[in-house]
Amino acid sequence: MLSSLPLRIGYGEDAHRLAPGRPLILGGVPVPHAERGAVAHSDGDAVLHAVADALLSGLALGDIGQYFPDTDPQWAGLDSRDILRRVLDLIRERGYEPVNVALVVTLDRPKLGPLRAEITRSVAALLALPDSEVGVSFKTSEGLAPDHVQVRVTALLGRDG
Ligand code: C5P
Ligand code: MG
Repeated sequence: MLSSLPLRIGYGEDAHRLAPGRPLILGGVPVPHAERGAVAHSDGDAVLHAVADALLSGLALGDIGQYFPDTDPQWAGLDSRDILRRVLDLIRERGYEPVNVALVVTLDRPKLGPLRAEITRSVAALLALPDSEVGVSFKTSEGLAPDHVQVRVTALLGRDG
């Protein structure tokens, strides 16, 4: 039966509105000199939120809003690295590990290219993967969404044995 294949693909997205006076954190990395940051209940790390959703979706476990509702004060200001760690626990309990992830950040400003290696390392370390298994791409919205950061992620999950 094909559903017994030990591989699952997952997909996740996240977007946040940008506003002055907020930090911009992407993949656990604070973006220096960002004029604006994410408006969010947690730290607004759209990369880690989308990665966490991609992992959950691969095992049909819903999305992070079910586990960390943004209406619940206990999750206010939550470090998104902790969200991802808890999601990893959920997939590991089911015998799966991330195999590779590919993420695309759409943001008009600032340029993120200089942070690519740092974001790659940070996400890879959180997922216990080598850097070579984390693809990080950046796009502008060509001015179509200048007030947003948008992240899209595919993830492959594998089961041992
Ligand atoms: O979106 P666009 O194709 O115009 O992006 C051109 C280049 O700018 C891409 O190679 C991308 O790596 C880079 N970029 C960036 N930081 C962003 C958006 C795009 O470094 N915030
Ligand atoms: Mg988010």
